[in-house]
Amino acid sequence: MLTPVSTTNMPHKKPKPMSDWHFRVMVWLYKLTDLFSNPERHLEKMPLREGMVVVDYGCGPGRYTIPIAELIGPQGKVFAVDIQPLAVKLVKEKAALRSLANIESVLVDSFDTGIRASTADMVLLIDTVHLIDDHDALFHEIRRILKPNGLLFMDSGHMKTERVKQIVESTGLFTLVEQKGQDMLLTKEPTKEKKKVR
Ligand SMILES: C[S@@+](CC[C@H](N)C(=O)[O-])C[C@H]1O[C@@H](n2cnc3c(N)ncnc32)[C@H](O)[C@@H]1O
Repeated sequence: MLTPVSTTNMPHKKPKPMSDWHFRVMVWLYKLTDLFSNPERHLEKMPLREGMVVVDYGCGPGRYTIPIAELIGPQGKVFAVDIQPLAVKLVKEKAALRSLANIESVLVDSFDTGIRASTADMVLLIDTVHLIDDHDALFHEIRRILKPNGLLFMDSGHMKTERVKQIVESTGLFTLVEQKGQDMLLTKEPTKEKKKVR
């Protein structure tokens, strides 16, 4: 009989960034599509407040990082996390240009962001799930950095929304509380305490 294997303690495959060329093309495509569909429409759906700590996971060129940093103000903070060095560079440049001191860029090479546990009020995962192979590692890290009452805001982007919903729910780490089209708001699933054997 096969014994069920927990993936939590298994060594994770190292994620790889897309090439610089691919990243640059993506940025130009975003510039083009943003002319027709304003990415900031998402902001209205996010329960953002002044002073919040937000993690923009897979921040890319900072289409959300920058307006969110402006919205949450100097008492808040945005961690802009990405695996592509050009993304981090671009966000730093944009933040400097706007004198935004509440953005911390985090260049990762694994699913360990180095952000302290229970730090974030909200984690954004927008148009990024399709680039991730190790969903288990990703959602464990997101759960770790979120405060107990923290929220995960996801957009299925290049994937079918039903598939993304299935992926996140199958981890058993989050519960869907709201869905509007491609946008999903999730809370941390309470940790299941192991029953003590008497
Ligand atoms: C399609 S872009 C979306 C950018 C941004 N969220 C937006 O909607 O404008 C996906 C981003 O996720 C980043 N990414 C992919 N895998 C990652 C990983 N394992 N950790 C952190 N970032 C990752 C990519 O480098 C890229 O910048």
